[in-house]
Amino acid sequence: MGLDEDQEVDSKNVTIASEARFRFVHLTDTHIMAGGRWRPRAGGFEFDTEESLRRVVEAVRALDPAPAFAILGGDLASPDLLHRDRPLTSQEYEPSYRLLAEILARLPCPARFLVGNHDDRVAFNRVLRAAAPTANAPHYYGFDYQAYHFVALDSQEPGQAGGFLDPAQLEWLHLDLARHRGRPTVVFVHHHPWALGLEWIDTMTLRNGEQLMSMLHEHTQVRWVICGHVHLDQAVQRGRLTMLTTPSTCVQLSKVSQAAKVLPGPPAFRVVDVSGEELATRVLHLRADGSAEL
Ligand SMILES: [Fe+2]
Ligand SMILES: [Fe+2]
Repeated sequence: MGLDEDQEVDSKNVTIASEARFRFVHLTDTHIMAGGRWRPRAGGFEFDTEESLRRVVEAVRALDPAPAFAILGGDLASPDLLHRDRPLTSQEYEPSYRLLAEILARLPCPARFLVGNHDDRVAFNRVLRAAAPTANAPHYYGFDYQAYHFVALDSQEPGQAGGFLDPAQLEWLHLDLARHRGRPTVVFVHHHPWALGLEWIDTMTLRNGEQLMSMLHEHTQVRWVICGHVHLDQAVQRGRLTMLTTPSTCVQLSKVSQAAKVLPGPPAFRVVDVSGEELATRVLHLRADGSAEL
């Protein structure tokens, strides 16, 4: 299927929320690094992120019903992890984005993208976003599917592991949500705006996460905020808003360690089922023994 994030997804002309019925998947932290394997500093193993994403894509193909679209939640490519001694050029990132596009071409649905802290915006725009207005333009946007509205934010703060939303993006978000008041809305952002209670991971939150979440509170149609970045599944609810985090399609972080601790999988992704005003979700973990059974 196509990979152009600007294409219109077929929404079957459903405009009333109670009639909405579809599924989407959230695949995040794919960390594709063409030509190498990830050796996490806090892990003591090496991991083939390409192979694990290929397995995840096959699992998505097995879903019944098939998803309407896939959201790729950031940290799409990270050849920087193969060369920790120096900053990489955008040109050096490009083969990893091309490899990502090749792997995702087997998805049974269109893909839309977020960028994360490991991404290179220039290379991403060049390979996966032909319509980018400038070479290093941030990538935030909204789109509709049936009666629902979706927002993808760009929380990358270049050179930082944590994230930030600049005032221009927050202003855009405020206007976008005001324009879509009548539609149940799901927001995607790479960095987690609320702390998880895990010390090391919480040094890398969205710096102005409270500002984002209090804005979302004002827009009562916003239901869920779905994040990547933390390589584990967690849900945090405050008032009307629920923040969900999705595990990575490759390595995971410990759910109990307060210090950095990276685990060799299992690869995972999130399925979200929309049925009228109701949202249901599950995280699927692939089997560690490499078999395809779910
Ligand atoms: Fe990541
Ligand atoms: Fe990240």
